Amino acid sequence: MSDLKEWLKAQQDKVDTKLDALLPSASTSPSTIHEAMRYSVFAGGKRLRPILCLAASQACGGEQEAALYPACAVEVMHTYSLVHDDLPCMDDDDLRRGRPTSHVVYGEGVAVLTGDALLTEAFTMVAHTPSCERYSAADYVLEFSETGGSKKLIGGQILDLEGEGQNLNQEQLVQIHEAKTAALLCSSLRLGGMSANCTSEQLQALTSFGYNLGLAFQVIDDILDVTQTTEQLGKTAGKDESVEKSTYPAILGLEESKLEATRLTTLALEALQPLGDRAMRLEQIARHMLVREF
Ligand code: IPE
Ligand code: IPE
Ligand code: MG
Ligand code: MG
Ligand code: MG
Repeated sequence: MSDLKEWLKAQQDKVDTKLDALLPSASTSPSTIHEAMRYSVFAGGKRLRPILCLAASQACGGEQEAALYPACAVEVMHTYSLVHDDLPCMDDDDLRRGRPTSHVVYGEGVAVLTGDALLTEAFTMVAHTPSCERYSAADYVLEFSETGGSKKLIGGQILDLEGEGQNLNQEQLVQIHEAKTAALLCSSLRLGGMSANCTSEQLQALTSFGYNLGLAFQVIDDILDVTQTTEQLGKTAGKDESVEKSTYPAILGLEESKLEATRLTTLALEALQPLGDRAMRLEQIARHMLVREF
């Protein structure tokens, strides 16, 4: 585990260095928006999506330098989704990654524009992924736009909002989790594999791994919202229950939810088989996610 922790830290550092190089500097005019973009991107965060992207590239024998572009793109899309997710008109959260949220610091107008700017910047980053034999820049951009679009990430956020105060069943909840969370995790892995010129069999394995890991990840996020403190999470604990979100713990209870997270992680691990030994880091990350505390 200590080896994994060190490896994770090294990947985080690489991603942060590349993000710093790719994002406009804080002093670039108009400085308010560039400061605000950097405030949210560099607030901390596990960097799970970019690390999955890098590990997927490694699992397919790719060059890390190429995978750093989609790695940064998925983190920046994720950060945009958090800035908007926290807005008063959405989840209305004032704490994120251990800091006051964007709209608390900069006001709502700037926070909306910060999300817009981050999303736009994310597309620039993904378009810079070097083309390879099987995949072109257009393939990366199409993959990315589908993930962020109204049938995936945005669609899931809509269903999540509409589900507040409703008694959703497990099938409806899976649909929300697939779209709002699993899609971007899955795409992080796919883009890493694509940047490494992966075969269709490898892409299929990464997709199946990412889908199940993504579902498990949101089940665990819902569990932690109930079991952890605000200090541990760096975001307000107990928030889901207070606004009557449909979550796994709400529908199945805590113990059943933990079993479900384990079941989904097992499915994810099984999907890695065709990738062989080079998928070791993906396997370790999936096991680690199951026992994470923030
Ligand atoms: C939080 O994602 C939003 C969800 C999809 C559950 P993370 O738990 O990966 O947040 P950071 O990036 O580490 O802050
Ligand atoms: C957010 O899900 C998923 C996104 C697409 C941002 P949550 O609303 O559960 O995420 P947290 O708990 O605020 O991080
Ligand atoms: Mg939300
Ligand atoms: Mg939220
Ligand atoms: Mg949550």
